[in-house]
Amino acid sequence: MAELQPTVTLKRLFPSPAPDTTAWRIYHDAAAGVWVDHFDGRWLVQTQAPTFPDFLHPLAGGVARSVYWRPRDKAAATAPTHVAGELVTERFAVRENGASFLIDFSAGYSSGIFLDQRLNRRRVGETVRPGDRILNTFAYTGGFSVMAALAGAETTTADLSKTYLNWTWDNFTLNGLDPAAHHGVKGDVFEWLATFARQGRTFHGIVLDPPTFSRNGRVTFRTDRDYAALAALAVALVEPGGWMLCCANTLGLTSAQFERDVIQGIKSRRRRVVSSESPSMPPEFGGDEYLKSLRLVVE
Ligand SMILES: C[S@@+](CC[C@H](N)C(=O)[O-])C[C@H]1O[C@@H](n2cnc3c(N)ncnc32)[C@H](O)[C@@H]1O
Repeated sequence: MAELQPTVTLKRLFPSPAPDTTAWRIYHDAAAGVWVDHFDGRWLVQTQAPTFPDFLHPLAGGVARSVYWRPRDKAAATAPTHVAGELVTERFAVRENGASFLIDFSAGYSSGIFLDQRLNRRRVGETVRPGDRILNTFAYTGGFSVMAALAGAETTTADLSKTYLNWTWDNFTLNGLDPAAHHGVKGDVFEWLATFARQGRTFHGIVLDPPTFSRNGRVTFRTDRDYAALAALAVALVEPGGWMLCCANTLGLTSAQFERDVIQGIKSRRRRVVSSESPSMPPEFGGDEYLKSLRLVVE
């Protein structure tokens, strides 16, 4: 393993990217394989290498109130290890564009919020109108639902995991939103989309942000193979003039292929796209654009 020799200066740390925002990617060096997320002064360092990068030690002591680390290849399963500063033993809140989200460093899969979705969350908050019905699928801890609900929407949040649905309601409560005024469905998104279609339920906006690979019983889903089918199921529920925000966090899927798949799914239901944008990732992620996003209005 090559020695890491980067010179990290305060200049290379990204400042808070937006007002009232205390969580963001503060440092990244893809070549060296080091990424640091800042959660209100607590750092979560991820590395390609199986060791904590020495060059971060001095900074970690000075800039961060606590530092946790995990190697990236184990990120899906392992809670991070404490390296320096205060122990983080409880959940804590961070702010993003005026909303609050609960972070848990002891959670294995992720710490409560995917920071690379910051601009998409903001856009949802900006475009939703009071009274809109919004469906957030593969919702994790409900970040998109919170933004939509704060803008006055009636939200439906769907995820396989009861733990994440409960976390969503905790995020609602933290933001002064009443979970009882919103809906949550636990289970497979594909089954729920079909159920909603049978029930005649429609939505003004739908967020589709599936994991790269998902298995439910014998059925598997892969973003690079099955996105058209997912988009087809979802678009059937979108009101005329409504929107879909489709995301795919899949390095091997090109933007062109992703767009083709989504459009193919929409057309298969004889719906027409009237406008389409491809929002970029937040600038502090360094232009990798591994997260593809498409926001489409359909009639
Ligand atoms: C990549 S995360 C989604 C991140 C989320 N959209 C956000 O912005 O925070 C994937 C989520 O999908 C859920 N999930 C995976 N497969 C699923 C399925 N077939 N049906 C419902 N939820 C699923 C997981 O439990 C996890 O919470």
